[in-house]
Amino acid sequence: MKKTHAFAGLVLSTALFGAGLTNAFAADETLRSLADKNGIYIGAILNSQWFNGGLPGNYEQIHKSQFNIVVAENEMKFDATEPSENRFNYNNGDKMVKYAKANGMRVRGHALAWHSQVPNWVNNYKGNKQKLLSVLKNHIKNVVGHWKGQIDEWDVVNEAISNNEPQWRTGSVWYQGIGPEFIDSAFVWTHEVDPDAELCYNDYNLEQGVNPKAKAGFLLEQVKRWVKNGIPIHCVGSQTHVEDTTTDKHFIGSPDSLRSLAKELAKLNVKLKITELDIGFKSGINVSKSDLERQGQTFRQYLDIILEEPNADTYLIWGVSDKWSWLGGLNRQKGLIYDDNLKPKPAFDSILVRLQTYEPPKDTAKKDSTVKDSTAKDSTALDPGQSIKQFNAPNSLSLHVAGRTLFVTGLASKTAAKVDLLDLQGRPVYSTNCINGTVDLSNIAEGLYVVRVQNGSTNLTKRISIK
Ligand code: G3I
Repeated sequence: MKKTHAFAGLVLSTALFGAGLTNAFAADETLRSLADKNGIYIGAILNSQWFNGGLPGNYEQIHKSQFNIVVAENEMKFDATEPSENRFNYNNGDKMVKYAKANGMRVRGHALAWHSQVPNWVNNYKGNKQKLLSVLKNHIKNVVGHWKGQIDEWDVVNEAISNNEPQWRTGSVWYQGIGPEFIDSAFVWTHEVDPDAELCYNDYNLEQGVNPKAKAGFLLEQVKRWVKNGIPIHCVGSQTHVEDTTTDKHFIGSPDSLRSLAKELAKLNVKLKITELDIGFKSGINVSKSDLERQGQTFRQYLDIILEEPNADTYLIWGVSDKWSWLGGLNRQKGLIYDDNLKPKPAFDSILVRLQTYEPPKDTAKKDSTVKDSTAKDSTALDPGQSIKQFNAPNSLSLHVAGRTLFVTGLASKTAAKVDLLDLQGRPVYSTNCINGTVDLSNIAEGLYVVRVQNGSTNLTKRISIK
């Protein structure tokens, strides 16, 4: 719907008077209908209480009428889906997928490889590389396989970077046991199981610039490497759990900084998604009406990134109502867009109005065709020819090295591949059979080699560097 300036001005001024008025004014429009029009996804988690029927009826009514994408707060995490070894529980996840289908919503899966909410039985294998590799692979094979074709995008790896300095999170069970290549492995395995799913790396504190001293700067270097090595990564999820500027003296993030990350990712044909947004105030302070209006403006500034950057498509809030929010545990409050009584706050109005009034620049393609078709799986226009494509070609053999592990993908199922490592003079150095897609190169000296993989009638030879 095209709006006149007078209409837009009226809507804006209505928003300034606070929650409720805008809704009465635009009774027929929802965040969802406007997100659809703008070609973006807007969503909120389904809180854990929803799965036990512990929420009032209007919660679900609001959720399905206002949002077109959904993610489970806890129910698809490792401890929920594989509480004991190789015994899987999909009940809650199935419930959400059914709900999403019934209501025509996109589904995010959260999260496959994360250091938190890992059941104790996994921690018992601490430091055992081979075992942890097979645990992670088996988890991915089962969980992603169970929802293949039903989950549109996965947080494959969550929070693998340290929060204090730009380096890997070394305390993670996966990092300690496997090394950073657990990340590469998780992406490759997920893609093998569901080649149509969009695969994200997800983390917080990415709104602090892309310089090498910031988390986003470190991440960007990794994304460049992953893309160069053909690791199937299609998106970065910025959780964006931020605090209202005036109550957090240490606040150094900003929407502009996150936008600069989006622009850098665009050069790599990788998307940026906002996946867990909340903008809380310090617990205990008295939050005034003008605080809530300022909060709304910050919600709007983050939305602008999603509307304006061609490689950004998702705006997901980590909760619906302030009444059911994890923020209390972080000493924050009132970070969401509905209040304790499920009444829309000024932040809701601010988002609604921005969606109503946004006019894409005339010379750009419609956001919905640009964004939805730009995943590596179907894009030809935006794909700069990086080796992500190799992973998308069904049944094509490909290989790459991460750390001291060689990954072979595209193996004909259940067929062992013969893997030969040769030096640059063509002399055999090492030979093995590879069944599960990985070869341990821990005992090979540093240097340049040629790897030859033979799998049935398919062969692949590639030069690799072991460091
Ligand atoms: O399942 C148990 C239940 O059996 C027990 O009775 C109850 C008693 O407290 O605890 C329940 O587990 C809680 C779980 O949520 C499910 O409700 C845990 O104690 C609690 O720590 C856990 O918190 C979740 C947190 O992740 C854990 O890291 C939050 O709900 C969830 O909102 C939060 O989500 C994370 C994202 O996954 C990743 N990014 C950060 C975000 C916020 O922390």
